[in-house]
Amino acid sequence: MPVLSRILLSTAVAALGASASPVSRSSCDSIEDGYTCFTDISHNWGMYSPYFSLASESTISPDIPSECEVTFVQSLTRHGARYPTAKKNTAYAALIKAIQTNATRLEGDYAFLKTYNYSWPAATLTPFGTNELYQAGIKFYERYECLGRDNVPFVRASSADRVVASGEAWNSGFQDTKFADWFADQSQAAPIVNVVLEEGDTFNNTLDHSLCTNFENSDLADDVQAEFAAIFVSKILTRVQAHLHGVTLTTTDIIYLMDMCAFDTVARTSDASELSPFCNLFTKSEWEEYNYYASLGKYYGYSNGNPLGPAQGIGFTNELIARLTGTPVQDETSTNHTLDSSAVTFPLNATLYADFSHDDGLEPIFAAMGLFNGTRPLSETKVESVEQTNGFSAAWTVPFAARMYVELMTCEGEEEQLVRVLVNDRVVPLYGCEHDGLGRCTLDDFVDGLSFARSNGNWASCFTS
Ligand SMILES: *[C@@H]1O[C@H](CO)[C@@H](O)[C@H](O)[C@H]1NC(C)=O
Ligand SMILES: *[C@@H]1O[C@H](CO)[C@@H](O)[C@H](O)[C@H]1NC(C)=O
Ligand SMILES: *[C@@H]1O[C@H](CO)[C@@H](O)[C@H](O)[C@H]1NC(C)=O
Ligand SMILES: *[C@@H]1O[C@H](CO)[C@@H](O)[C@H](O)[C@H]1NC(C)=O
Ligand SMILES: *[C@@H]1O[C@H](CO)[C@@H](O)[C@H](O)[C@H]1NC(C)=O
Ligand SMILES: *[C@@H]1O[C@H](CO)[C@@H](O)[C@H](O)[C@H]1NC(C)=O
Repeated sequence: MPVLSRILLSTAVAALGASASPVSRSSCDSIEDGYTCFTDISHNWGMYSPYFSLASESTISPDIPSECEVTFVQSLTRHGARYPTAKKNTAYAALIKAIQTNATRLEGDYAFLKTYNYSWPAATLTPFGTNELYQAGIKFYERYECLGRDNVPFVRASSADRVVASGEAWNSGFQDTKFADWFADQSQAAPIVNVVLEEGDTFNNTLDHSLCTNFENSDLADDVQAEFAAIFVSKILTRVQAHLHGVTLTTTDIIYLMDMCAFDTVARTSDASELSPFCNLFTKSEWEEYNYYASLGKYYGYSNGNPLGPAQGIGFTNELIARLTGTPVQDETSTNHTLDSSAVTFPLNATLYADFSHDDGLEPIFAAMGLFNGTRPLSETKVESVEQTNGFSAAWTVPFAARMYVELMTCEGEEEQLVRVLVNDRVVPLYGCEHDGLGRCTLDDFVDGLSFARSNGNWASCFTS
C-alpha cells in the first residue's frame, strides 16, 4: 500500500472523529487490505467477520495476468461493519440487563459484565465499517488504476442507510486515490450513488430480497440452524451457566453472547483492533462451530441449499449479462423495467460498475451465477472445513465489506474476451462453461452457461402454492 493511502486513511479516521491509540496494536496489521487481527477468532464470525482478503487462500493468483488488460469491471460489495439491527439491539440489551440483575456473582472473564454499558444505534455503519468501505474504494482504484484514471464508476445501492453510506464511503476512497494520481483525468466528476433501489416487498430490487413470496415464508434455514445449535451449544451452555449463578440461559442466549463478541469488537474502535471481552468466554473450536452455524444459515437460506435461494439472484445476473454484452436487460424476475430501460439509470456504456448490497443480497447472486455449483450440500450435523465445502462459508463469501469483482479482459494471443470472477480476492473458477487454468471462460461461453438466469430460472416457484 503506497504511503499516500496511509495518509488518506488517517485523514479518513480523523474525519470520522474516532478515538486514537487502540490497545494491542501489535496483534494486528491494518485494515488497508482487510482486517487482520485475532484471525483465529475474527475469521470465524460468519457474516459478522470484518472483511479479510482471501488472496493467500486462492489457488489461482488473483493478480491481473500480465499479458491481459482489464476492459470492464462489475463490483458488488456488501456494506461495512454495522451495529446490530433494532430487534437484536433490544434482545441483546435485555439479555445483558438480565445477567446484570440476576447474577449473584460475576467473576474472572465474566467480571466485565458488571459495568458493561449496552448502548448502540440500530443497524448503521460503525466508524470501522465506514472505514472498511473507504479502504475498499482505494483498493478498487489501485487494482483497476488503468481504468479508474479516465472512467467514473456507475454506482447503485440498495436503499438501507448503511448500504447507501457504504457506497458513499467507497466513492470517497476511489476519488481520493484518483485525485492523488498524476495520470488520472482530474476533469472527471467524482462518482456518486447514481441509483438507489428501494427495499420492500412492493419494489423490484435486484440488490435485496423480499419479492419471492414462498422464499419469505420458508423456515428451512432456521430449522437447520436450530438443529445444529442444539448440537453445539449444549456444552457451552453448561459452562457459561455455571459462571452465571442466578441466571437461566437458553440456547439462543449463547448465540447472542457470541454475536456480542463480533459486534462489540467492530464497534469499540475505528480499526477493530481491540477484541471485545465477550470473545474470551468461548474457545477457538467453539468459534469454528459458531462460524459453521452461520454458514448453514446462508447456505440453506440464500444459497444453493435452498431451492429459492438462487432465484433471487437471477435479476442481478441478467443485469450483469446486459452490462457485459452491452445489450438491454432481459429479465422477468426482480428487475425494475422502468429503471433498467433508461440510459440514465441503467447505462450500458460504462466501464466500471459498482453495486452495494447486503449479505443476503450477495449470496443469491453468487448462487444464480453458479459460483458454488461445486459445493455438495453442507452437513447439517458436523462442521465442514472450507476445503470440504469447496470454498463456501459465510465468512469467506459475505463478511462485512465482502466484495465480488467480475472482470472482463483482453489478452495477447486470445481472440475472445475472457471473464473472471473473484470473491474477496479469491479467484472462483467458473461453472457452466469450460474454464482455463486461470479460472476464466470466454465471454460468450460464460453468458451461455448462465442459462439458469437467462431463462428466469425457477422464479415462478416463488408464487406457486
Ligand atoms: C452508557 O453509554 C451512553 C452512550 O455512550 C451514555 O450516554 C451513558 O451515560 C452510559 N451509561 C453509563 C451508566 O455509563
Ligand atoms: C421502479 O422504479 C421507479 C423509479 O424509481 C419507481 O418509481 C417504481 O416504484 C419502481 N417500481 C417497482 C415495481 O419497483
Ligand atoms: C431474571 O430474574 C427474573 C425475576 O426472577 C426472571 O423473571 C427472569 O426470567 C430472569 N432472567 C434470566 C435470564 O435469568
Ligand atoms: C416487477 O417485476 C414483476 C415480476 O417480474 C414484473 O411483472 C413487473 O412488470 C415489474 N415491474 C417493473 C416496474 O419493472
Ligand atoms: C454513455 O451514454 C450517455 C448517453 O448517450 C452519455 O451521456 C455518456 O456520456 C456515455 N458515457 C460514457 C462513459 O461513454
Ligand atoms: C448451477 O447448478 C444449477 C442447478 O443444477 C443449474 O441450474 C445451473 O445452470 C448451474 N449454473 C452454472 C453456471 O453452471
